[in-house]
Amino acid sequence: MIIAIDGPAAAGKGTLARRIAGALGLPYLDTGLLYRAVGRLVLDANGDPADPEVAAAAALRLKAQDLARSDLRGGPADKAASQVASIPAVRSALLAFQRDFGQRHGAVLDGRDIGTIIFPNADIKFFVTASLDARTARRHAELLGRGEAISANDVRNDLVSRDEADANRKAAPLKPAGDAIIFDTTGLDADAAFRLALDMIRARTGAAP
Ligand code: CDP
Repeated sequence: MIIAIDGPAAAGKGTLARRIAGALGLPYLDTGLLYRAVGRLVLDANGDPADPEVAAAAALRLKAQDLARSDLRGGPADKAASQVASIPAVRSALLAFQRDFGQRHGAVLDGRDIGTIIFPNADIKFFVTASLDARTARRHAELLGRGEAISANDVRNDLVSRDEADANRKAAPLKPAGDAIIFDTTGLDADAAFRLALDMIRARTGAAP
């Protein structure tokens, strides 16, 4: 079974995807990490993440251990990820890995284009959203928890500019698949969102538990 979870930044995709994968015994892939790691490789080499040749070369030399780095989140990494993600050659270099991952044993994958491009025939597709206020509060708490000193206003501005870039790019823009369930998690905590999503998965696919 393939479960696709897409949506804007800080909507709670990762937490939801990880819990669904655990409940259904499926592997989980956070596809944002792929773009984050490519952006990081470019930054490490003092390159420009918006340069298509440099970014595509980094995508081709990406290794599994790059995904486990501890510096893939936070301001510069977020922006670099979004920049490399707008480059078609980067996206095509990462496509086979994502499809292979899912096809091996089924999977839950979260990202921006899982239901539209990577697995258009996914068994179930969620487009997870939340209000900008809710997403700002969640990401701000996450960053403060990691010891980053950043204002809520800066977090909000970063989310808005990344979402705009992701939604307006030509290559695999952020948008719900026609057959996606739009799942607004504003006002839902992680437990409530998980329970509701599991109910929808059961209703649509008959999957246990
Ligand atoms: O965790 P958050 O929602 O902030 O971001 P993420 O899912 O880790 O994705 C980081 C960036 O990678 C996004 O802003 C997108 O530009 C890009 N991305 C993408 O283009 N396609 C995906 N399938 C996943 C991420």
